[in-house]
Amino acid sequence: MLSPDFVNSYLDSHLGERQVNKIQHSFPSPRYWNELSVPLDELDEDRRRLREMYGSSPVFLYIGVPYCIKTDPGKCGYCLFPVEEFQGNAALENYYGYVEREAEMYREQMEGTVLTGAYFGGGTSNLYKAPVYHRIMDMVRRLFPEISREADLTLEGIPQLFTREKMEAIAGSGMNRISMGVQQVNERLNSLSGRKQTTKHVIQSLEWAREFGLSVNVDLIFGWPQQTVDTLLEDLETLVSWEVYDITHYELNVGGPTDFALNRYHELPSTLANLELYRAGRDFLLEHGYRQLSTYNFRRPGDPAARGFREGYSTTRFEHMDNLGLGYAAISFFNDPALAPGRSWSFINHRSLPRYKAAIDEGQFPVERGFRHAPEDFLLTVLFRSLISTEIDRTRYRAALGLDIYEKFATVWDALAERGLAEITPEWIRLVGDGAFYAPMISSLIAEERYRELREEAAQRKKEARRPAVTGVTTLPVPGVGSGG
Ligand SMILES: C[S@@+](CC[C@H](N)C(=O)[O-])C[C@H]1O[C@@H](n2cnc3c(N)ncnc32)[C@H](O)[C@@H]1O
Ligand code: SF4
Repeated sequence: MLSPDFVNSYLDSHLGERQVNKIQHSFPSPRYWNELSVPLDELDEDRRRLREMYGSSPVFLYIGVPYCIKTDPGKCGYCLFPVEEFQGNAALENYYGYVEREAEMYREQMEGTVLTGAYFGGGTSNLYKAPVYHRIMDMVRRLFPEISREADLTLEGIPQLFTREKMEAIAGSGMNRISMGVQQVNERLNSLSGRKQTTKHVIQSLEWAREFGLSVNVDLIFGWPQQTVDTLLEDLETLVSWEVYDITHYELNVGGPTDFALNRYHELPSTLANLELYRAGRDFLLEHGYRQLSTYNFRRPGDPAARGFREGYSTTRFEHMDNLGLGYAAISFFNDPALAPGRSWSFINHRSLPRYKAAIDEGQFPVERGFRHAPEDFLLTVLFRSLISTEIDRTRYRAALGLDIYEKFATVWDALAERGLAEITPEWIRLVGDGAFYAPMISSLIAEERYRELREEAAQRKKEARRPAVTGVTTLPVPGVGSGG
């Protein structure tokens, strides 16, 4: 266990630092995913065993699109996701054909599973023309004949690419939610990203979504260049006045060779100013009847079109995780405590489009690399998810994993509680106050000991890889290791 002194000095030095949003990828960070051969046949066997054991097995599906429309600056000035410039509809449809073929490769593996939710993301998934949404849902139904009645089936897109015809097709296909990347309602601030999005696009898309009974999430980003508490509150006021029930408010993740990192760094609010932005946004939304459902997501009850989705939270077997990722750069997670040690995985599909397609042409699963979880990694994965939901149910951890999650990381929880960032009761550990803002940093702290071990293992592998004439080496040097968890 981390010593109280270490935990306190870690918190002292990190509370004022810009956070890196690693929480999305769960544990560990993808820089440690260095197994180039992921045994999909082993996963197939394990899925069957779990189904025999539990009766049925819930699966969450993600499908990605590589393309985005060109912006100046490129990649919207801030985006860190792997994306390719849109090359026209023929290339998009050609890509989609590959996704259908990949889905077919998983069909037998998915027999007897239940689809609990799906996310069609990217890239920009509303680049597809209207008829394709029906094709996508037909493919999903072939892959998952059983879809939970509560399933959120969300298509992500940008406001300027929705049309009435597309919205009708999205709803008609059986999808039931859209997530719109708005980032800034303020047109002047938004234009810094090179996106040609107007307020009219946003309002119009909201109206069409309502007309066809789709539930709507709006993504915003705080910590944007030149953003102030006033512009943030104006944006939120506008969204509340438009009756947007579901708002996801990400903190800007700055990094890589993006325009914001290279050319607008001096215009970004400081870390402490980001905390002020976070507090102002949170308090405003709570005062207006929204509930904080995760570190980033706020929802107002009463949305006639909504179901019960909550990120990081599951009402059934919370410790089971089967996220199937299809398409370019899609990520899959597979975890369950009943699996033998070393049989849990995180993996990512090829981030090179030609390689993604070539693998499928060769009849191979298009997996680029993965991480085989040791039992302690499995626990961290589950805990990272609980932290996203801002609360940890100690009773469920006891029942499912046979351990007291408080005891396991007591020095961290105690230090957080002393600083007013967490609340500990016999049943729960909850992030309170600014705790949710610091969730990425808290996750890194909790994983600190395991990250140390992984860094040592990676350094060892690097050393071995430098030795000449070694045959049968299946791992690559790990990119970026040594620069922190
Ligand atoms: C990967 S994008 C895809 C959706 C769509 N292409 C769009 O731009 O709206 C999904 C969401 O991630 C968020 N996002 C992208 N880059 C980010 C960054 N550097 N920091 C924080 N959030 C980011 C944005 O809010 C965006 O809506
Ligand atoms: S923010 Fe969205 S539209 Fe912009 S580059 Fe990233 S994925 Fe594409």
